[in-house]
Amino acid sequence: MQAFRRELTEGLAASPKSISPKWLYDAKGSELFEDITRLPEYYPTRQERALLRRVAPTWAKGVGPDATLVELGSGASEKTRIVLDALPALAAYIPLDISQSALEEAAASIRADYPKLDVRPVLGDFSALPSLPDDLPSGRRVGFFPGSTLGNLERDEAVRLLASSRRMLGEDALFILGVDLIKDRETLEAAYDDAQGVTARFNLNLLERANRELGTDFDLTAFRHRAVWNEACSRIEMHLEAVRDTQVTLDGMTYDFAGGETLHTESSRKFSRDQIEQLASASGWSVRDWAQSDAPSVALAVLAPA
Ligand SMILES: C[S@@+](CC[C@H](N)C(=O)[O-])C[C@H]1O[C@@H](n2cnc3c(N)ncnc32)[C@H](O)[C@@H]1O
Repeated sequence: MQAFRRELTEGLAASPKSISPKWLYDAKGSELFEDITRLPEYYPTRQERALLRRVAPTWAKGVGPDATLVELGSGASEKTRIVLDALPALAAYIPLDISQSALEEAAASIRADYPKLDVRPVLGDFSALPSLPDDLPSGRRVGFFPGSTLGNLERDEAVRLLASSRRMLGEDALFILGVDLIKDRETLEAAYDDAQGVTARFNLNLLERANRELGTDFDLTAFRHRAVWNEACSRIEMHLEAVRDTQVTLDGMTYDFAGGETLHTESSRKFSRDQIEQLASASGWSVRDWAQSDAPSVALAVLAPA
């Protein structure tokens, strides 16, 4: 809560105004994200699941016995099931997420369906990864970071996260990374601005959350959702745009929005294979395997210590 207050205060004072996308995920935000994954326009989940089903049986052969799967930004742990089904010898599963409700529900559901698996949820922020428990099974540690959540990070944040994952997982680790690939503007903008307005509700929920948790007075009718492909930066940007001049008060300070001004709430970077290879090598990994889906294309990479 204090971190949200601090980051929103800094973000409203900045020019242009912005805030980390991690604050989109309270209980309602996590539920809305699951709704997004089922939308016809939102190809990433559908494509990544199909690709994972295709490659998981082959990739699982390299994992070995008594392994631990450590998932970053695990959300509802739905894609995890494809990995767990391909890895019956997996001994432990550590889902890590910032959204308490999503994490607890997912852990309960995985425990119920995989009773032999040691499930140890960690509530936290992956930008400050904890060390792994000392009493884990003796096998390999496998990182799992699907959903192109890496694309929500700036390049230096992504390198820091991949490097700290490498340290956390140890020398014999593998890391399965799911990323979205660069494609045409129309497909990308539709995926982040669906016809039913679910993504708009997901984005606007940030303001509702701030009003509820921080006592701000955002006028929800004064903002609309915008999703824009920024080609120069290879990223879809989600913004909350003021439709008229408006103000918000936080802790006694007033922040003005001119009509048309935005609060930048999420960037979702899209990648090429070369860019992923560069990110991997800048963070101590190398790409051991690479698989791409049909169009609209997403990719899965297996990283191993360089
Ligand atoms: C794009 S969703 C992906 C969910 C799921 N992994 C998937 O592939 O469908 C991002 C997930 O990461 C979590 N998340 C976002 N920022 C985070 C952070 N800084 N630390 C930990 N979890 C975070 C969110 O709560 C959400 O569950």
